[in-house]
Amino acid sequence: MKFDTPAGANPTDRMAVLGKPIDRYEARLKTTGTATYAYEWQDVAPGFAYGYVLGASVAKGRIAAIDTREAERAPGVVGVVTYLNAGKPGVGKFYVQQMLAAPEVNHYHMPVAVVVADTFEQARAAAALIRVDYTRTDGRYDLAAQAASAPVPPDGEYGGPNEKRIGDFASAFAAAPVKVDQTYVVPDQAHCMMEPHATIARWDGDRVTCWTSIQQMNWGTRDLGLILGIPRENVRLHSPYIGGGFGGKGTVQADLALAAIAARVVKRPVKIALQRPLMFNATIHRPKTIQHIQLGAGHDGRITAILHDSVSGNLPGGRTEPCVTPTRGLYAGANRLTRMRLATLDLAEGNAMRAPGEAPGLMALEIAMDELAEKLGMDPVELRIRNDTQVDPEDPARPFSTRAFVACLQEGALRFGWDRRNARPGATREGEWLIGHGVAGAIRGGKIAKAGARARLGRDGRMTIETDMTDIGTGSYTVVQQTAAEMMGVEPDRILAKLGDSSFPETPGSGGQQGAPSVSAGVYAACVALREAVAQRLGFNTAEVDFVDGHVRSGNRSVPIADAAKGGEIVVEDTMTFDKLADQFNQQTFAAHFAEVAVNAYTGETRVRRVVSVCAAGRIINPKTARSQVIGGVVMGIGAALTEEMALDTRFGFFVNHDLAQYEVPVHLDVPHLEAHFIDEVDPTISPVKAKGVGELGLTGVAPAIANAVYNATGVRVRDYPLTLDKYL
Ligand code: MOS
Repeated sequence: MKFDTPAGANPTDRMAVLGKPIDRYEARLKTTGTATYAYEWQDVAPGFAYGYVLGASVAKGRIAAIDTREAERAPGVVGVVTYLNAGKPGVGKFYVQQMLAAPEVNHYHMPVAVVVADTFEQARAAAALIRVDYTRTDGRYDLAAQAASAPVPPDGEYGGPNEKRIGDFASAFAAAPVKVDQTYVVPDQAHCMMEPHATIARWDGDRVTCWTSIQQMNWGTRDLGLILGIPRENVRLHSPYIGGGFGGKGTVQADLALAAIAARVVKRPVKIALQRPLMFNATIHRPKTIQHIQLGAGHDGRITAILHDSVSGNLPGGRTEPCVTPTRGLYAGANRLTRMRLATLDLAEGNAMRAPGEAPGLMALEIAMDELAEKLGMDPVELRIRNDTQVDPEDPARPFSTRAFVACLQEGALRFGWDRRNARPGATREGEWLIGHGVAGAIRGGKIAKAGARARLGRDGRMTIETDMTDIGTGSYTVVQQTAAEMMGVEPDRILAKLGDSSFPETPGSGGQQGAPSVSAGVYAACVALREAVAQRLGFNTAEVDFVDGHVRSGNRSVPIADAAKGGEIVVEDTMTFDKLADQFNQQTFAAHFAEVAVNAYTGETRVRRVVSVCAAGRIINPKTARSQVIGGVVMGIGAALTEEMALDTRFGFFVNHDLAQYEVPVHLDVPHLEAHFIDEVDPTISPVKAKGVGELGLTGVAPAIANAVYNATGVRVRDYPLTLDKYL
C-alpha cells in the first residue's frame, strides 16, 4: 500500500482501542522473569560454548605478537579466536568500527581475541593467559585540541548536509542590536542500557542464526552479512525482548559479530555477553560536541541571525553528530548558517544515541535562547513564541505538517505555574536552598519509514500479526495489538503480536522514534488486506463492510469474523510505503519542558524538584506507553544535565568510568514527580494512523531546561555539561 496523499477518515479514527492506556502485553512476562532475553536462551543451540572478549589495552597501534598457547591449554577451552584464525571481518554499513583488531588497533578495548570455553568462568580465566605485545603509536584523543582545525566533511547518508547557508548570516549578525555569542560543550555520553549486548550464534552449514539484542533487524541482517562475508539471506536474527537500547543496539555490535565469527571458527554455537566495561570503550557512544552559537535579534525579540557550528570527533570514515538539525527547524530567522565539522579521533565510534543531533544540539541552542531572553529582558517563553514559525525556516514553501510548539509552551507554562517564576537569578531562597525555574523547547524529527506486516486469521478466530519490529521496552507489542484490534474491530486480546524475527516482514525497527508510527502503518496495510480477504470469503461487497465487535457487518447482515477462517487459515501481507509527503511537509514532533531545581547555597548540591513536559506528536496510540517514553526521556535528561559524562583520559585515549557505578545515571531518589502531557492532535500527512513517535522527543530539551533553572537559581551560567557543583564556584 502506498501512502502519498494525506489521510482521510479511516477505521483508526474510531479510537475504540487506539488512544487507550492499555497495559503492556509483555509486562507480566518481564516482571515475572519469563520473557527470554538474548543471554538466557539455552535450548536453541545445543552444545553451545561461552565466548569471552578480550579488549585491547592500548588505544592506537597494532598487535606485534599474540601468544594464545597457554590459554588454549587451559581447562575447558574450546578455542581462541583472533585475526590469525578468523581472518579480517568486513564492516557493516551504519557503523564504521571494525570488530576485531586485525592486527591494527583503532581504539581502546577493541576486541583482540575471543576465548571460547565450556563455561563462562573458564573462558574468562583463560583470557587472562593471553599475552599480547602491542606496538603503540600516538593517537588523537582530545577533541578540544583539534576543534579549531576540524574540517566540514563531505555529506554522508545520515544527518543532513554538513553545511547550510540561508541569507547572509554575517551581515545580519553584525547589524543585530542584541546578540548572544557563546560556546557550549556536551561530553561523550554512554547509552547504559540495563541489558548488556548479548548474542548466541548457531551455524547450520553456511547459514547463521543468532538470538541477540538488536533494535533494527533489517540493518542487522545486512550488516552481519557484510561482516561475515555472506549473503544477508543467510542470516537469521531473533530479538523478541530487548532490555533497553537507546540507539546503542541499532545494528551489529561486537557481541553479535564475534559470537557468529567465533562459532564459525570453533564449529560450535557460541554465546557472548559483552562485559560492562567493553560497552563503554568497544561499542558506540554519543560523541562529545563543542558547539558555537551566535544569535542576533531585534529589540522586539525577533531573531534575525542564527549560527550554529558544531564540531565532534570520530574514527576515520565516521559521521558527524548532527547537532545543528534542531536549529534548522525550531525558530524563524532569515539569516542562518549551520555547520558540522569533524575531527578524526582514535576513540570508540561516535554514533546514534537517543535523539542523535537534537538532544545535544538543543542542550546548546536552548541555553543560548535563555541567554538571549535575559539580554532582551524578555520572558523566555514569550521569546520562543515570538520566534515560532509554521513554515520550514529554511524553505518557506514547505509547511510543517503539524506544529503545536506554541501550544506546548502555553499549556506547559500554565500547568507549571510559570507566572510565579522570579526572573531575577539567585533571588529565590528557601533556607539554604536556592530555587530556580527554567524552560526549554524541543523539536525532534517525526520520521516514518516503509514497514510491512503479515496478518493471519486462524481457524480458532485468533489473529496474529508478524513483523520484524522490535520492542526495546517501549511497548511495540502493544502498539501492534492495538492497531490491529482497532482495524479489525476486536478486543486487543484477540490479537497475538509476534515481533523480533528477521524472517518476518521488514520494518525500520526501533530507532529514530519511528518505530510506533511506522509499524502501526504497516499493520494498517496488512489489516486492510485482511479485511478484504475476510469480507470476500464471507461474500460481502468489500466496499461497504464495517468491522465491529468481532463481526463483519453490512446493512443488516452480520457475521462473526472467525467464520471467514473456517475453511482454512487466512494469511495476508502488505507493506506501507511512503514517498512524497515527507518532501511536501516538514514532519516534526515538538515539546516544551519546564523544570524547577533547588541548589544548595553552601554545597552546590542540585536537586531537580519537578518537571512538567508537554509534547505534540500527532495521535497518541497509547497514552500509558507514550507517557512512559516521555518520563523515561526526562530521567535521561536529568542525567544529561547533572551527572552523565564519559570521563576521557586524553593521554591514553580511554573512557575511565566504564561501569554503572562510575558513569552516573539518575536513580530513583534523583527523580521527582514527572508530569507528561500530550497535545490533542493528529498528523494526517504521516500515515493513515496519523501518529508520530515520542520516544526520543521526551529527552530532547530536558537538560537545557534544567540548566536554565540552575542559572535562575544561582545566577551562575554553566555552558559545559554536566552541571556538576564544581562549575558553580
Ligand atoms: Mo535511536 S538513537 O535513533 O535508537
